[in-house]
Amino acid sequence: MSIKKILELSNEGKTVQLKGWVRFNRSSKKIGFLEIFDGSTLNGIQVVYKAEKLNDEKTFKFLQSLPIFSAIDFTIELVKNNKNNVLEGNLLKINEFALATENNPLQRKTHSHEFLREIAHLRPKTKTFQSIFKIRSLIMFALHSFFNEQGFIYVNSPILTSNDAEGAGETFKVVTNDKKEFFTNSVSLSVSGQLQAESFAQSFTKVYTLAPTFRAENSNTQKHASEFWMLEPEIAFADYNEVMDLSAEMLAYVANYLNLHAKEYIDFLTEQTGVDLGKRISILMDKKIKKIKYEKAIEILKEHKEQFEVQDIEFGLDLSTEHEKFLATFYEDSIVYIYDYPKTIKAFYMKQNDDQKTVRGFDLIIPEIGELIGGSERENDFEKILTATKANNIDMEELSWYLDLRKEGYLKSTGFGLGIERLVMYLTGTKNIRDVLPFPRTPGNILY
Ligand code: 4AD
Ligand code: MG
Repeated sequence: MSIKKILELSNEGKTVQLKGWVRFNRSSKKIGFLEIFDGSTLNGIQVVYKAEKLNDEKTFKFLQSLPIFSAIDFTIELVKNNKNNVLEGNLLKINEFALATENNPLQRKTHSHEFLREIAHLRPKTKTFQSIFKIRSLIMFALHSFFNEQGFIYVNSPILTSNDAEGAGETFKVVTNDKKEFFTNSVSLSVSGQLQAESFAQSFTKVYTLAPTFRAENSNTQKHASEFWMLEPEIAFADYNEVMDLSAEMLAYVANYLNLHAKEYIDFLTEQTGVDLGKRISILMDKKIKKIKYEKAIEILKEHKEQFEVQDIEFGLDLSTEHEKFLATFYEDSIVYIYDYPKTIKAFYMKQNDDQKTVRGFDLIIPEIGELIGGSERENDFEKILTATKANNIDMEELSWYLDLRKEGYLKSTGFGLGIERLVMYLTGTKNIRDVLPFPRTPGNILY
């Protein structure tokens, strides 16, 4: 039985078997206290060991010297703590154990996140990383739950692909051990499942992918990883306004889910980080949506240009993180979308507006991080998308199937990509993407 189940289902006086790891161990001459965790709850359970109950002195001494992070299998009797009325265990019997080392690198003192990254195989034992990865797991579940309730089909897009979906040339090439091509054509790891999702949306109407994506992008920042997870919904017949609204519904659903199921973790991280996570959650739940045209965003930025490092702000500028962060807080407590970007800075597949210079693309931006979601209505006109692929020097051969979809009853399609890590960062108050990925991969860095 997990500690969570023990605390939920068991009564005072009951004898149960407890398996977990030691988080704290303190003792005086005759009595000692262990905190045992197993990952099912944040705080674990307190186990009391008493010299008088354990018949021999040797066992008591052994328990006193038990290093933290040792694994234990105990039989305990549940009792109520007199002070706080919380269930705890009186140790009756040691069934099994496996010691941790005395000089385990995770000793009680607090460590920097940088140091913990170097021992990423041990850091999930800390309360901070237990909280971050529990919340990450709940976010993933909530996303699946939201799209399932909305009638979407979950599509497993391939990881090995023969195209560069974003056309940005940031792919990892896949070859065999002896550096040969294994397939008949050149193959890389997927940068996005969007193109395949579009194909399925043209049959199921509402689909989403949720998969790892890989980008050989030399951005050594706090919010870029070489391997990250992306959620990509795609909806046939929908325009970008509907889909922006859908993305706000999705975030509100996730926020509500965390509010209901992650309270202890959110509270712990709020205290640890000093970030008001409850406020972030309630802003998402409130869904105060603000949609700003890119052109308008440029005007706002110009008016405040003295605040920025990049001050050359004109139509055509690819907004940088500092601009996005500013705009994200410009309208108080709102969820901010920027839309109708210049076509010169966006991907070839975005639908062109009649003005000839903008595309029906949108980004959702959030405070502290910047871009959380990038999406667009797709170009449905065969000739126009063909011209755009050529203008972007994109290898047509591998994409002919994708363009051909336009000839087979393709009226409209809109979708977006949500960077899972960025959402986890936002909702856990974590500054660096390396701390929300179990084993992060970033330029020049791959451990484990
Ligand atoms: O804006 P992006 O590049 O859009 C696409 O890939 C489209 N195919 C999405 C679609 O329309 N279906 O990426 C989408 C999101 C970004 O907003 C960001 O949150 C995240 O993916 N992202 C990254 N996250 C971490 N590390 C990176 N290197 C990222 N690149 C993008
Ligand atoms: Mg983008």
